[in-house]
Amino acid sequence: MPAPANPASPLTAPAIINAFTSHGLELPAPTVFDTIASTNDEALVQASAGAPEWTVVVADRQSAGRGRLSRSWETPAGRGLLFSVILRPDPVWSAASLGWIPLIAGLATSRACGAHDVACRLKWPNDVVIDAAAYDGSPGPRKLAGILAERRSEAVVVGIGINVSHAQAELPIPAATSLALEGSGCDRAQLLAQCLQVWGELWNRFRLGGGDADSSGIRSEYLAESLTIGRRVRVDLGGGAPLVGEAVDIDHEGRLIVDGPFGLRTVSAGDVTHLRH
Ligand code: BTN
Repeated sequence: MPAPANPASPLTAPAIINAFTSHGLELPAPTVFDTIASTNDEALVQASAGAPEWTVVVADRQSAGRGRLSRSWETPAGRGLLFSVILRPDPVWSAASLGWIPLIAGLATSRACGAHDVACRLKWPNDVVIDAAAYDGSPGPRKLAGILAERRSEAVVVGIGINVSHAQAELPIPAATSLALEGSGCDRAQLLAQCLQVWGELWNRFRLGGGDADSSGIRSEYLAESLTIGRRVRVDLGGGAPLVGEAVDIDHEGRLIVDGPFGLRTVSAGDVTHLRH
């Protein structure tokens, strides 16, 4: 497949501030880098220094981008939307509320990307995916975006990487994709503002609901976009035998419930593979 023709859209502070303004977002001034090791690392430093909620750190390129489960996240300059956001959950919230933070970010990212005519779904816990085979014909889904949430005392930093204009050869695996490869072009500053707008609305509802995923309606909305629930899955837990069974639910804490030969098991972290049979 040839490289997408679309050039990198500008990801400068003025372009981002314009996009915030056009979306009616009144947020702290974003910090924007050409290159940084990891936007999450920078946001964690800023969170420790007392930066307010919705402080955003953006980079055109990361030299040491980090993914879930100690993986790296590598993106050629200009191709991705790489950013981290500082959230300050209510200090009285329980582990159940905190467990939903990355899932809410996934839901927001899925909806913002979905507004660009791409049929996005969620692979637990928070991968934004397209329900299609990988580019080498192996089973999908194709991953469009990933999220890494990290806690620093009372703050949570949520880092998001969206593949925007990558050619297939620029992606790490055949089961990854970009908005361009899915036939959609978009401006990265606008996409950032769209993500933050949708996310802010979800977050306000969650906060008003006291951090309760059920009463805020967030859990049912997440479940409606989940590609994992109802699937046979393998969950690699980072050591020992993987769990294999049917993914049947996501609980009040955002954990995955798997029904298998062992009975019902609740998983708070792991690497999920959707199985065919
Ligand atoms: C995953 O493994 O799926 C999560 C990937 C998260 C990548 C983003 S890019 C912006 C932010 N900074 C990082 O170092 N990681 C996250």
